Amino acid sequence: MIEQDQQKANAAREALTHVRSGMVLGLGTGSTFNHFLTLLAERIKAEGLNVKGVPTSLKTARLAREAGIPLIELDEASTIDLAVDGTDVADEQFHLIKGGGGSLYREKKVLQEAGQRVILLEEDKFTTTISGPATVPVEVVPFGSTKTRRELTASGADCKYRLDGEVQFVTDNGNYIFDCTYHDITDIEALHQKVKLMHGVVETGIFVDMADALIIGKKDGSVETH
Ligand code: 5RP
Repeated sequence: MIEQDQQKANAAREALTHVRSGMVLGLGTGSTFNHFLTLLAERIKAEGLNVKGVPTSLKTARLAREAGIPLIELDEASTIDLAVDGTDVADEQFHLIKGGGGSLYREKKVLQEAGQRVILLEEDKFTTTISGPATVPVEVVPFGSTKTRRELTASGADCKYRLDGEVQFVTDNGNYIFDCTYHDITDIEALHQKVKLMHGVVETGIFVDMADALIIGKKDGSVETH
């Protein structure tokens, strides 16, 4: 059995085979995506691969710049050919729960714009159907956030403010995150729609129909693409 980090790296290596010169790439966020970023930078240096990246977080932007990956803003990109990102959970219907790194709004925006969406994960994150208990990150406007939390709690969730050490975690958009645990989820799309309609909610970590391929790094060292 191989380590979790190696499973992530194997999935990332497989995703690199989807990259072609001339592409605009959506660059995800997180430790799995960072393997892809490292491998992409190696290919750019070794082969002079001509790609541009649209980062989904300030952290990814910094890492990409340091690695020598050319970047453009989302609004400058006429199209995103391929977006690559990690996930916290994925199921057989290709529903995802993302936002462990707090970048869910930008990640969703970039995936929505992409022609091809490839999601990387390790075996333990893959499940038949997301049914709960599951923790859904929800990005909220700071103003009145305790009131928003009350509404979220009424929807059946146990919601905690995400912290960054002793202080509130603040997203790249200047917002807060609630990590909301739902003990029973029967319809994840309906749950997303219900939460999204709440005043003060910017975005939920439920990604419905936003993956074209799931690349799973497995414990035995193999890689499976769904
Ligand atoms: C960040 C995300 C990440 O893609 C997700 O949390 C997976 O992270 P990791 O690859 O570190 O396990 O959604 O907002």
